[in-house]
Amino acid sequence: MKSFWQDLPKPFFALAPMEDVTDSVFRQMVASCAKPYVFFTEFTSVEGLCSRGKDKIIHQFQFTETERPIIAQIWGMQPENYYQVAKLITRLGFAGIDINMGCPERVVLKHGACAGLINNRPFASEIIKATQAGADQLPVSVKTRIGLNTIITDDWIPFLLSHNLDALTIHGRTARELSDVPCHWEEIKKAVELRNKLNPNTVIIGNGDVEDYADGIKKVNEYKVDGVMIGRGIFKNLWAFSQKSQEPKTLEEMLQLLLRHAQLFTKTWGEKKNFLVLRRFFKIYASGFPRASVLREQLITTHSLDEVEKIVAEFTTGRL
Ligand SMILES: Cc1cc2nc3c(=O)[nH]c(=O)nc-3n(C[C@H](O)[C@H](O)[C@H](O)COP(=O)(O)O)c2cc1C
Repeated sequence: MKSFWQDLPKPFFALAPMEDVTDSVFRQMVASCAKPYVFFTEFTSVEGLCSRGKDKIIHQFQFTETERPIIAQIWGMQPENYYQVAKLITRLGFAGIDINMGCPERVVLKHGACAGLINNRPFASEIIKATQAGADQLPVSVKTRIGLNTIITDDWIPFLLSHNLDALTIHGRTARELSDVPCHWEEIKKAVELRNKLNPNTVIIGNGDVEDYADGIKKVNEYKVDGVMIGRGIFKNLWAFSQKSQEPKTLEEMLQLLLRHAQLFTKTWGEKKNFLVLRRFFKIYASGFPRASVLREQLITTHSLDEVEKIVAEFTTGRL
């Protein structure tokens, strides 16, 4: 059967999953500026979702109509939990399920999860198969890196391709490299060539250091990926997915967006999320205009929407 991934126009763009960043609220903000073809949730633990603590994390699977199509990203250790959560994801109306095999954080690697699976093939295989069994007709994809400590594209990618994945996102660095070195896009190209030979049905998404739409198109032309995923580029440019080169935004536009984000955050999450989480977004909006740093210094002291609104009002009327 043709999957959702094959129906996407090529090339397509996706917003990267980013923990504590790409929640429903931020995805709505991105969609209102320039919408990518696909969204992902933050990575969410299958063990957590199958435990009594489920209510504390299920909000990570919250989304609105404007965020469709959206893929649920999961991680964890127990194949049985992947199976159960795949069933849950199917019921929640996601377009697909993505398994995280790339996160390099020490806490997850300690358990052998995420990027730890790169060097544990039998277990990686079990997890993919359990997810596919629970997913029924829903497409299953993997997001990974090109190795744990050394580059092993030639070995790891054919292994993944042998599992009939619907899509495969490749972040062109090893886990050890974190994001500290330039992305090895030539390795991503190698993965595309392997795909062409071994399993033409798997859609390949390239990821790493892509700044915006124009940069993404350059990467598509050079490295032949089907789609491109942008992560940190969105922090510098909320219009990263726009096909038009953007005029510089006015101070008023940026402050309106900042207020909308703070209001939507408060309305959506209420007490569920600590307001301090919002502080990390202020730099996105309060940048690129005179005295932006003065505004930022004040914004990062806020604890509530009221305080944000007051500071923005003082700034725009010249009292700050
Ligand atoms: C703050 C932050 C959180 C991240 N959280 C996740 C995550 O939950 N799941 C995931 O697969 N990757 C996660 N990543 C990795 C990104 O999805 C992406 O692969 C990486 O940033 C490289 O792309 P970029 O150079 O476009 O940023 C995260 C990255 C950042 C910066």
